[in-house]
Amino acid sequence: MTTPAEETTLSDELEQSYVESTPRSRELAERARNVMPGGDTRSVTYFRPYPSYVESAHGAQLETVDGETLLDVLNNYTQSVLGHAPEPVVDDVCSRFRAGNGVAAPTEPAVALAEELVGRVPSVEQVRFCNSGTEATMNAIRAAMAWTENERICKITGGYHGTHDVVEVGVADDGREHTGIPRTAEQRVQTVSYNDTEQLKATFEAVGDELACLILEPILGVGGMIPATDEFLQTARDLTAETDTPLIFDEVMSFRLAPGGAQQRRGIEPDLTAFGKLIGGGLPVGAVGGRADLMAQFHPETGSVDHSGTFNANPATMAGGVATLRELDADAIETLNQQGADLRTRLQEIGDDADQPITITGEGSLFQIHFTDEPVRDLASSSAGNPASEQLFHEMRREGVFIAPRGMGNLSTPMTGSDLDQIATAFDRALESLGYSSHCKSLHT
Ligand SMILES: Cc1ncc(COP(=O)(O)O)c(C=O)c1O
Repeated sequence: MTTPAEETTLSDELEQSYVESTPRSRELAERARNVMPGGDTRSVTYFRPYPSYVESAHGAQLETVDGETLLDVLNNYTQSVLGHAPEPVVDDVCSRFRAGNGVAAPTEPAVALAEELVGRVPSVEQVRFCNSGTEATMNAIRAAMAWTENERICKITGGYHGTHDVVEVGVADDGREHTGIPRTAEQRVQTVSYNDTEQLKATFEAVGDELACLILEPILGVGGMIPATDEFLQTARDLTAETDTPLIFDEVMSFRLAPGGAQQRRGIEPDLTAFGKLIGGGLPVGAVGGRADLMAQFHPETGSVDHSGTFNANPATMAGGVATLRELDADAIETLNQQGADLRTRLQEIGDDADQPITITGEGSLFQIHFTDEPVRDLASSSAGNPASEQLFHEMRREGVFIAPRGMGNLSTPMTGSDLDQIATAFDRALESLGYSSHCKSLHT
């Protein structure tokens, strides 16, 4: 999910300074353009004039091929919650890989990771593994369709659940035509604005008995790191319970917010949960888990949903996931969440002093910078990915801080107090360079 490049503006000075400091990346980008469309193979990692290439990553730092050291406040879009190459995870992944990885048979690490998820998340009784968050939401929806024998799904405008057909509907509000999705997929989807309880009620009133599921993120991630209101989440739970419609929480990003995910933090139990990102220890992963009767749709003898995949429950991935969750215990999460809350307060204070309206949203260790002073509650009020975000991204990068080009950031456990100071200082200096503030405060505490 990116804002289309042609709609954004990048000042000549910023672009020139970026090009001058990234000669090796430019060479690689030119080579890449010959063999990959736009030199890119993951739309979200592309930015103009070309992305910089990373040579290595350790702890909270990235080393680029151009010899730059950047503080990584993007963390592979929240996946690297322990930072990069954490020793305990690397050790367990490598030893499992050495023990033989590509086998068409179950292995113990998958059982251990499933037990860990079931132990942490009360709504999860059974688990199935796959290879991405996309596959996780796809399989969750399939299980819900099989169980309800319905095909329509209700999702949030701006809700991002990966790249399979139905969930791509209603994601972007960028005015660009998105093709490659069958019209029939659009017809199956009912969209509702995030945090719009009345619209959700009206939708269930109209089509509640035709729905296979309601799928939502407990915090709207790509749409702008916007937490759901308690009222919205509770209404979602009540309406789905009344109509026997499976409620699917997409916790691909939000699982880092508590040992049992955002659902534990918010006190709402969904019927199915999609996992991804951090639960694979840095390797490709996804999982769907939930109520035993819904998950029974995947039973190889008695279920009706086929679910295969060469790399499902890949042993090294499973070992990496177990090691990651062992490290990401309740104390580690609490510390991260507190650091995130403190940082959002500091960024908001800096934003309040700027000549440009700025609102910081987020929860726990997740944050988003919006260029607005209106309340941010849904995709329509979010400014994630607007032209100013790309400028801010480049300015912060110049200060050695790497956030998402759409203005999103998140923390990792190896970050220190001085790393957090660096983020706040970079934000202040970036605003000043953009002409949004006339001063640069001393932010070191
Ligand atoms: C909430 C959410 N769901 C699903 C996905 C898709 O996961 P993947 O990129 O592993 O397919 C993402 C990816 O960013 C996500 O943020």
